[in-house]
Amino acid sequence: MNYISIQNIDSLNKWVKEALKIKKKPLKNKKLGKNKTLGMLFFNSSLRTRLSTQKAALNLGMNVMVMNFTSEGWTLEFEDGAIMNSGASEHIKEAAAVVSQYCDIIAIRAFAGLVDKEKDNAETVLMGFLKYATVPVVNMESATGHPLQSLADAITMAEHKTEHRPKVVLTWAPHPRALPQAVPNSFVQMMQLQDADFVITHPEGYELNPEITKDSKIEYDQDKAFENADFIYAKNWSNYNEYGQITNSDPNWTVTADKMKLTNNAKFMHCLPVRRNVIVTDEVIDSENSIVIEQANNRTYAAQLVLQKILENGK
Ligand code: CP
Repeated sequence: MNYISIQNIDSLNKWVKEALKIKKKPLKNKKLGKNKTLGMLFFNSSLRTRLSTQKAALNLGMNVMVMNFTSEGWTLEFEDGAIMNSGASEHIKEAAAVVSQYCDIIAIRAFAGLVDKEKDNAETVLMGFLKYATVPVVNMESATGHPLQSLADAITMAEHKTEHRPKVVLTWAPHPRALPQAVPNSFVQMMQLQDADFVITHPEGYELNPEITKDSKIEYDQDKAFENADFIYAKNWSNYNEYGQITNSDPNWTVTADKMKLTNNAKFMHCLPVRRNVIVTDEVIDSENSIVIEQANNRTYAAQLVLQKILENGK
């Protein structure tokens, strides 16, 4: 079993319930991972993913090896048949096969480069490991998805569920740097597995990949989108059409207390790290309606559920 996309799961509702059980007794399966090793390979920076996934593995009794691939590993070649007479020192064929001998599960973080849309959509690094590793692979945020994050988001929303069918708004917000679409993509895919009034709001031109958003509702007027919302999920992403560009930095899209007043006393969510007073004002993120810290805590139980399922599957 691999965990590549939130769409891999059979029932979101069932997985969320299982994760909440793990949260109540995180050390219950401490023996499951004995003598098993998780290898975590990072091609990009991380705080939450690195520590929560490591903590999840430790809760299951696993050993953990972490490698920052870009600073410590050989530069990898991913093209089949490449003549490696410059640049990369090692082919993914050997690298993935070798790491598979040291680890029982390999977890990969490899962001979009935001230069070549086709290459990013092909998920070169993740798919390279998936193709040549001989052990299960977990996606710790790839070019187009962050399924551990969206599983944690689903767990967090379930803990704050409303009595009525919730209105959930994914809102774009400005950011000084070009960011990938991985988090909003997986959030959209996760919301498509839930019964909710789900609305995506962003400036015109900032549409996500239509193959991912499908028929999800898009509202270009952020104020209108916020009306009666129960959850506001803020995230920046760079332009998908003018690929990887920042074509809008309008501060009117920052989530402010005035905008939150339009909602149904909505909870505020963000995957973190967040740029304060750019994405969201201090007043909102420091308010009692902000659940970003709980959301980050649930990353452990999302990862633990995934690792547990893989370990159980492999028995
Ligand atoms: N949300 C998230 O994935 O955080 P990190 O980039 O710090 O891992």
